[in-house]
Amino acid sequence: MNVSETALKWILWIVLTTIIVIWLGYSMLSESADKTIFMPGPLSPGHHQLADACGACHADAFGGGEVLQQSCVDCHGEDRVKPFDSHPAKKFKDPRNVELLENIDALMCTSCHTEHRPEITAKDGVTQPIDFCVHCHQDVAEERPSHEGMAFDTCKDSGCHNFHNNRALYTDFLIKHLDEPPTLKQVVLPAKEYLDVIDEVVEYPREKYPLTQLEEKDIDAVERLTVSPEIKKDWLETSHAKSGVNCTACHITEDGSGSEKWTDHPEHQACSSCHSVEVSRFTEGKHGMRLKQGLSPMTPENAMLPMKEAAQHEDLTCSSCHGAHRFDVVSAAVESCLGCHDDDHSLAYEQSPHYQLWQKEISGEAEAGTGVSCASCHMPRISYDVSEWSSRIIVDHNQSANLSPNSKMIRSSCLHCHGLEFTLEALIDVNMINNNFTGKPVINSETMDLADSENQRRLKAAAEDEDAGMFGF
Ligand code: HEC
Ligand code: HEC
Ligand code: HEC
Ligand code: HEC
Ligand code: HEC
Ligand code: HEC
Ligand code: HEC
Ligand code: HEC
Ligand code: HEC
Ligand code: HEC
Repeated sequence: MNVSETALKWILWIVLTTIIVIWLGYSMLSESADKTIFMPGPLSPGHHQLADACGACHADAFGGGEVLQQSCVDCHGEDRVKPFDSHPAKKFKDPRNVELLENIDALMCTSCHTEHRPEITAKDGVTQPIDFCVHCHQDVAEERPSHEGMAFDTCKDSGCHNFHNNRALYTDFLIKHLDEPPTLKQVVLPAKEYLDVIDEVVEYPREKYPLTQLEEKDIDAVERLTVSPEIKKDWLETSHAKSGVNCTACHITEDGSGSEKWTDHPEHQACSSCHSVEVSRFTEGKHGMRLKQGLSPMTPENAMLPMKEAAQHEDLTCSSCHGAHRFDVVSAAVESCLGCHDDDHSLAYEQSPHYQLWQKEISGEAEAGTGVSCASCHMPRISYDVSEWSSRIIVDHNQSANLSPNSKMIRSSCLHCHGLEFTLEALIDVNMINNNFTGKPVINSETMDLADSENQRRLKAAAEDEDAGMFGF
């Protein structure tokens, strides 16, 4: 090899390396570039939408486990306390339990939920073997003879226990709900109460937009009505005009420098001054989580779940379900969902008894709150702490919050209308989920049998105590 050939190779090497460095640098820094090439493996299904926002977890490129841990807690912390979590950090900071951490460091989220490892990632993003409860509960059969002979791979997969949320599964709760009929006598969801408590919404711009019925002559942006005559009609007929919410309440935005200007396309922040709870819950679930990171809205095209062809490029915002000026809550609860979702479970809904109840409600044949829409299960009306000093019934716009494990749905939805045993048996049956709850459950829930025998044991023990009290002297 002569000198010039070597030099040429060197030059070529330098040029190529420079190009690669520039390309990598561009990819890392540019917002639009694909950063997934730097991932050791794909993200878990729960986080796949964050592939454009590595920094949401890797907040500091040089930070170790603690930085990651902080990011988990920043987004998920809210739920990781009792009574929403049976294994809160506090439990493991107790000196009596510290030695349990030797096998599994339960203070670190990544001990059980690491990322970029699809080969070991199971449902709910769990990256531990299914029987991992054995590490800390080997002795359970000694304390609870009823658990004699049970295998550790059944603890959490038979509708008996969850690691975190057991709000509908702890013994006293089960006992309280023994012997309930499949469907209760009174079946109705809690009523919405936003208007009743609006005085407590501190940030509500009541001075600018007092709560009075507005009419055509009050419209504060008449010049904008040229775009579409439908706007006026829709607005006038629906609840915003009835409550004093004029055009500018949504359409005027501030451009940082303090000056205000009209926008034709209000984003979700435009709703915040009056509906901050809905906006924040929306951005914490799969529908709105990208917006929280300042990314473009989610679209069906990027979903892992089956979606309708025609909706592929639709942005997921408040208007996807509510429409731009009708702010409808009826079509939002079923029709809108089926405009996008295309899996077996969603498609089966219209054949279910719940859909018939929904039809009766919206036609006025049955009382409000007796129908069961997609939203009755996935966006339930729950009592929520809207501030440190008050709670009210809200429509939970985080449709991921009670989805999995599905026992989280029991208290927020089913128990308003069904008994606990029927509910548990419906929820552990995959066929029932696929056919969207048509027909009677056929699997027997062992959970209720155990609760029953625990109850018998307690009653017997109490009776013996009483006998002992009577004759024990
Ligand atoms: C939901 C949180 C999350 C997101 C989003 C995320 N990661 Fe990670 N990443 C993790 C976790 C957890 C680990 C494993 C750390 C461990 O177990 O030590 C990890 C590990 C890594 C590693 C291995 C190096 C190391 O520190 O062990 C690289 C490289 C990496 N991630 C790159 C990326 C890139 C690039 C993106 C964006 C495309 C990204 N990650 C997005 C959570 C995340
Ligand atoms: C930027 C906010 C954010 C960060 C940071 C984040 N998550 Fe999440 N995570 C979400 C959202 C949103 C979902 C989807 C909705 C849901 O399931 O609650 C989710 C889902 C999950 C799930 C359920 C997965 C599934 O398949 O259903 C687990 C487990 C989880 N996250 C654990 C973690 C852990 C551990 C970390 C830290 C390494 C972390 N998350 C960091 C926002 C975040
Ligand atoms: C010892 C193992 C373990 C640790 C540590 C752990 N998890 Fe989990 N996590 C699980 C299991 C198992 C599930 C499956 C559902 C269940 O059993 O509760 C789960 C489910 C979840 C889910 C989805 C379901 C739900 O109930 O919300 C989220 C989100 C989650 N974990 C977040 C976290 C966060 C955040 C941390 C750290 C603060 C953490 N987990 C620590 C084992 C663990
Ligand atoms: C890292 C150790 C550890 C692991 C792993 C673990 N647990 Fe626990 N668990 C504990 C400790 C500690 C307590 C508290 C015991 C007490 O207060 O007497 C507890 C309590 C419980 C309780 C009683 C709940 C309550 O509200 O008092 C249940 C049920 C339970 N665990 C189930 C499970 C299941 C199911 C798994 C596996 C999915 C599991 N645990 C995994 C340590 C662990
Ligand atoms: C409660 C909030 C709200 C109120 C009140 C409201 N709008 Fe809108 N408007 C929206 C939203 C949301 C959109 C759709 C944004 C999108 O699709 O990007 C929109 C869109 C528009 C557009 C653009 C339509 C197009 O097709 O491009 C015009 C013009 C408009 N509104 C005028 C009005 C007028 C005039 C009023 C009063 C009579 C009014 N709006 C009241 C929220 C509101
Ligand atoms: C100036 C305050 C204000 C703003 C801004 C505002 N709203 Fe409202 N909104 C209200 C009030 C007040 C009600 C209650 C009306 C009722 O219940 O009759 C309401 C009711 C609703 C309802 C329920 C309607 C019904 O028929 O039950 C929806 C849906 C809604 N708003 C969505 C939005 C969206 C989406 C935005 C942003 C694009 C928005 N609102 C912006 C004040 C506002
Ligand atoms: C996935 C569909 C969907 C999306 C997206 C959505 N909503 Fe809703 N929203 C509903 C449904 C369904 C209801 C009524 C549920 C019920 O009656 O129980 C509702 C009800 C409401 C209500 C009335 C609540 C009450 O307590 O009376 C408000 C306000 C509201 N939504 C605002 C918003 C805002 C703001 C956004 C965007 C941040 C948004 N919605 C996005 C489906 C949606
Ligand atoms: C504009 C399209 C669109 C509409 C309208 C819509 N969704 Fe979704 N939905 C999505 C997309 C996209 C995802 C995210 C799927 C993913 O990340 O793989 C999703 C996710 C979900 C999930 C799974 C959440 C999770 O944590 O895994 C549920 C449940 C859901 N939607 C229910 C509903 C219900 C109920 C309605 C109506 C009230 C509705 N959706 C309306 C597009 C839509
Ligand atoms: C009676 C309650 C109920 C009704 C009504 C209902 N669902 Fe579900 N949905 C569930 C349960 C339970 C699951 C399963 C959760 C689990 O076990 O992971 C589920 C799962 C889902 C999922 C996630 C599927 C997946 O594979 O991750 C989507 C999306 C969904 N439902 C959409 C809808 C839509 C759209 C409607 C209305 C057309 C609807 N659901 C009606 C209870 C209900
Ligand atoms: C608003 C009340 C209401 C809510 C909430 C509700 N249901 Fe129902 N459900 C009913 C009524 C009423 C029927 C019809 C019962 C009948 O025909 O005897 C029904 C029927 C059913 C059926 C079919 C029974 C049959 O014989 O065909 C199943 C299964 C079921 N519900 C499960 C559930 C589950 C699981 C949940 C929660 C995820 C739930 N339901 C939430 C009121 C409700």
